[in-house]
Amino acid sequence: MWDPGKYLRYADERARPFAELLNRVDADKPRRGVDLGCGPGHLTVRLIERWPDAQVKALDSSPEMVAAARANGIDARVQDVRDWVPPADADVVVCNAVLQWVPGHEELLPRWAEALPPGAWLAVQVPGHQRSPSHQLVREFVADPRWGLDGEAQVRDVLDPMGYAELLEKAGCTVDAWETTYLQRLHGPDAVLEWLTGTTLRPIRAALNDERWADFCAQLGARLREAYPMRPDGTTWFPFRRVFFVARTRQAA
Ligand SMILES: C[S@@+](CC[C@H](N)C(=O)[O-])C[C@H]1O[C@@H](n2cnc3c(N)ncnc32)[C@H](O)[C@@H]1O
Repeated sequence: MWDPGKYLRYADERARPFAELLNRVDADKPRRGVDLGCGPGHLTVRLIERWPDAQVKALDSSPEMVAAARANGIDARVQDVRDWVPPADADVVVCNAVLQWVPGHEELLPRWAEALPPGAWLAVQVPGHQRSPSHQLVREFVADPRWGLDGEAQVRDVLDPMGYAELLEKAGCTVDAWETTYLQRLHGPDAVLEWLTGTTLRPIRAALNDERWADFCAQLGARLREAYPMRPDGTTWFPFRRVFFVARTRQAA
């Protein structure tokens, strides 16, 4: 279950990649914008602000997130991105920080690109954290039989920018792909654990009872504090790599 309140605790840090992604979408007068995996909808609002004449729709598989998005005035519905079929007028499609949760998303992307109208924009961002100590530690803990965690709690891999560029070029798109490492300045004790709890650790939280979750956090927290020491002013630097790609479907001749 997603907790919109917890997710929004780092709203500023999470909004920046979305803004940088959107900056590379050069759509003039899109008819429809779609936010796939809209979360609490606070970023969907940016689509409406940017293209006030477009019909902006959103979807998310979490009923809690959809309720939060609707409370933010977004036209959102509960749907899995795997079941989404691009409508013929979807000129801008944004999918921010979602596909890392979707196994097989490499097959979805070309399917979407082929179904989108000519000249449409598909803008995607995924955390590219395979090499970060935080996610290597989470993987190590998940693989430890002591916790009895199954496949649902796995930290999934994403592709590199070139992997996504090749995938979408093959589907006939022009692709702009890049990566950025943000040096997040987190506050308070166990700041990295707290950050991960709102996203990456969510399936693990769901799989463990309260007592085992407390134990898991205590042990992971200790390892994370070693990997990301707190600075004398009480803040912690947390480098976070993100992978971006903006694909434009072939324009009509
Ligand atoms: C990290 S949040 C990102 C939310 C929003 N896009 C943002 O940038 O703030 C990930 C969102 O993806 C949604 N999600 C995960 N898997 C999904 C799926 N298969 N279909 C639709 N939404 C999904 C979650 O419910 C959650 O709201």
